[in-house]
Amino acid sequence: MNQATAIAHANLAFVKYWGKKDPVLNLPANNSISMNLSAAYTTTTVVFANDLLDDEVQLDGEDADQKFADRVGRHLDRIRQYAGVYTRARVETRNTFPASAGIASSASGFAALTLAAVAALGMELSERELSILARQGSGSACRSIPDGFVEWRTGATNRDSYAESIAPAEHWDLLDVAVIVADQPKGVSSSLGHRLAPDSPFWAMRQAQLPERLEQVRRAIHERDFVTFGQEIETEALSLHAIMLTSAHEVAGSWRSGIYYWLPDTLELLIAVQNWRADGIPVYFTLDAGPTVHLLCPAERGEQVQEAVWLTQGRRNWSMIVSLPAVGARLGGATI
Ligand code: PMV
Repeated sequence: MNQATAIAHANLAFVKYWGKKDPVLNLPANNSISMNLSAAYTTTTVVFANDLLDDEVQLDGEDADQKFADRVGRHLDRIRQYAGVYTRARVETRNTFPASAGIASSASGFAALTLAAVAALGMELSERELSILARQGSGSACRSIPDGFVEWRTGATNRDSYAESIAPAEHWDLLDVAVIVADQPKGVSSSLGHRLAPDSPFWAMRQAQLPERLEQVRRAIHERDFVTFGQEIETEALSLHAIMLTSAHEVAGSWRSGIYYWLPDTLELLIAVQNWRADGIPVYFTLDAGPTVHLLCPAERGEQVQEAVWLTQGRRNWSMIVSLPAVGARLGGATI
């Protein structure tokens, strides 16, 4: 059997990966900590077949665009090289969430692709080896391999940059309410953002603060200390965006002082969160490279948080994806 199907969840970083030590191997500048998201996952089937002249890639039931197909092909080459085979593959991949939701489908996608391709070739790799391989496809994909709450250690070489679970999914009933305020692709790619980050005047300060922040977030997760956790992740998200907002660059010959991933609705939500907290709702936010706002709260307060979002939304067309912590990448799922 040269075929396997794997499922992997997207992940949300609490301490962020922004800036690379090595852009080819995706070695990050700093450790990051994340949680797998139960409602956002990718199911991928890989079939290696001798009669194929080239790799074939389908995304959500349709032929994938060339850019995505090439990226998948390059990752399959990496896995073929590892296995010592040349056979081409058919890849079918489906996401439970829209591509422009502000939830990285590349993390769940490359984690599921790695596990499915490795299994289809009959290889049995350790979680660490899978995480190392997934990282080379897309940096944050290495965090979608282990269970629950995860830390990706920078490492100095390809062999020692991988993610490990720091607590299982059932450790803490923490809810992520992802509020999608706009359904549009981001203006500046995260790969450009990673490249520009070290030129920000605040880069050195952020790097100096990160060891302490990582320690606090790790401890808060272990002790289920929601207040420390919330304060650290909100501060961290703003530290990330301070770097982005001061990453000067040019677009088509025109100078820009920084990258604005926020929209007016994003800022409105950030201010609303502060007011909800003052009104006694335990909720904190984090943000990635886009306008989507992630609201974190204890699971039992989820309905209250969603209600507060509906009230703030008014006539606008926001949508929400609500997730608990999820397990890591696994084989199985319906063949598609
Ligand atoms: O995986 P990339 O290269 O799209 O970078 C992800 C960067 C953030 O989402 C902003 C932070 C993170 O750690 O996921």
